[in-house]
This record gives sequence, structure tokens and C-alpha cells, in this order.
Amino acid sequence: MEITIRSEKPEDAASIREMIKRTLNRPDEARLVDTLRNSGNITCSCVIINNSTKAVVAYAAVSPLNANINGSDATGGRITPLLVDSTCQGQGLGSKLIATITEMCDQANLPFIMVMGNPNLYSKFDFAPAATYNLKATGDMGDSFLLRKGPGFQQPTETTTAYCTSDFELLDHSRQYDMLIKQFDALRDTTKNIVSRMSTLAALLHNSMAYNSWTGFYLYQDDELIVGPFQGPVACLKLKKDTGVCWHALNSGESTVVGNVHDFPGHIACDASSCSEVVVPCYDKDGRIYAVLDIDSYEYNAYNQDDAAGLEKLVKLLVED
Ligand code: SME
Repeated sequence: MEITIRSEKPEDAASIREMIKRTLNRPDEARLVDTLRNSGNITCSCVIINNSTKAVVAYAAVSPLNANINGSDATGGRITPLLVDSTCQGQGLGSKLIATITEMCDQANLPFIMVMGNPNLYSKFDFAPAATYNLKATGDMGDSFLLRKGPGFQQPTETTTAYCTSDFELLDHSRQYDMLIKQFDALRDTTKNIVSRMSTLAALLHNSMAYNSWTGFYLYQDDELIVGPFQGPVACLKLKKDTGVCWHALNSGESTVVGNVHDFPGHIACDASSCSEVVVPCYDKDGRIYAVLDIDSYEYNAYNQDDAAGLEKLVKLLVED
């Protein structure tokens, strides 16, 4: 196979996403890479392209890892992910990728790079257990990281933790909601006004979840669903009665998660690029539905039952004192 190794370009994003999904069978991991990229948290990244198909067959990205080393702030990098397409393994692409990404990190003057991976493979590229250098990384597996010294590395005199700017915890939907609930609970305190609270919740959710294409409310008034506070492109002002996902959630009284909107009979596409969505009914203090929260994504299967459960807790806060 003839290959090209080079830095990632903006037009590679879709092919990278496909490769990650194909290789790991986990849309979440592809989402993490998109989230890191969209939030400016990729320091450097490289792809290997199959010259005949032009497809991305391997990918490595580095995101920032911050540590206070002996009283000074230092930003290193964490390699995450480093992946070779399942159909191209055993051809030395992983080693080529490690050699290239470590060189890119040196060029970017990163004082250290950390990775969680096979010590036998990474030791060939001067990685050693991070504990050898008195460094660990955040999270339960913090001690399992390997480290490679870069230009100007200062070894900590005592055990020091390096923090990821965007951690893998982003993948755990329920943990993400724990954080959002705390944030919204603090924000909503200022006023009981429902419009202010709905607008703030829509903005909070939309900006915390890079994969949301539309985040907002449809208000249930006079037996109609009309658009309320939202973030995202202009959407339908009124939803045709008893049609689509919002009306389904309203009529059933239950949260509705739709992995592929094209398979949902009657789905109303305010935005033709929409692929999946979650809709959660909002109950007032008397147990009546006054609105639905609708969140859409351009990704398939962007939401699951953890999202529904987390969003249900958030919308409860809208009407609590
Ligand atoms: N998809 C929704 C309509 C609302 S928008 O897409 C913003 C539905 O089927 O109810």
C-alpha cells in the first residue's frame, strides 16, 4: 500500500471520523476528537492516507496537558487517540505514526508528551513510565501513563499531576450532566422568570455540547407547539400537530431519544442536515406540560438514555424555587 503521512487538514475531518467509527465501533470516540478539535484543543495531529483510495487509514492527535512543575506552569501534550484502521494493521503504520507525532511535538517545543499505551511499543520511541519522571495524569488510570521528554523538560522534584484541558470524562454523559446541573443550579438562582431561565439553559447546553446543532424549547400553548428560546439556526415557528418527535414526547409525556431521525415516522426536519435528536417534556409545578426541550445533532446516535435522564433533571430546575 502506497501511503502519505502528513499533518491533518480541515478537509480530513469526515474521513477521520469514519475511520474512528469503523475501527473502534464507538461513535463517542469520534465525537471526542470533534469536541477536542472544535474547542481548539488539538495541539498537533497527523494522518496516514492510503494513496489509492485517498482514505485516512491512521490518525494521531495531541491535546494539551497542563502541569505546575516546580512552581512554573508547563504545557505538554497527551496523545489521544492514536489509531490504525483495523484493515491496515500489522504493516508498521502505528510505528510510523508514533515517529511522526513525536517529531511534531518536538517541533512544537512540547516539554513532555504522555500516552496510555503498550510500554513495549512506546519504549522504542523513548517513552518510559511517567512515574519515573515524577509525573502522573488526572483520572483513575493516572499512574499508567508513559512519558517522553521533550525540549526543555524540567523533571518535577515531587510527584506532580498533569491535567487534560478536555478530558475523556467528556465521553461519560452522566458525568457531564453532573457538571451542567451544578452550573445551571447556580445560574438560575438570580431569577424565577421562566423565559430568562429557559434562554440560559438553552445557551448553556448548546455551548457545552459541541455536537448539538440546535438546542431549544417549543412552548405548548393553546394546543400548539411554537418555538421558544433557542440556540442554533432559525427553525420552524410552529410544529404540525401530532407529527414528529416533539409532539411524540408531548403526547406520550416521556422523553424520546431518536438515534436516526430518518427512521422516525413523521419527523419534522427544520434543518435537513439533522441526524439524531432528544426531546424532553417540561412539566410545571402542577404536573402539566408547558414546553418540550428539543436538542438536535448532525451526528447519528448523538444522545442516549443518560442524556434524557440528565436533561430531565435540568428542566425540573426551570420551575423549582
Ligand atoms: N425535529 C423536531 C422539530 C423541531 S426542529 O428540528 C428544531 C420534530 O420532529 O418534532
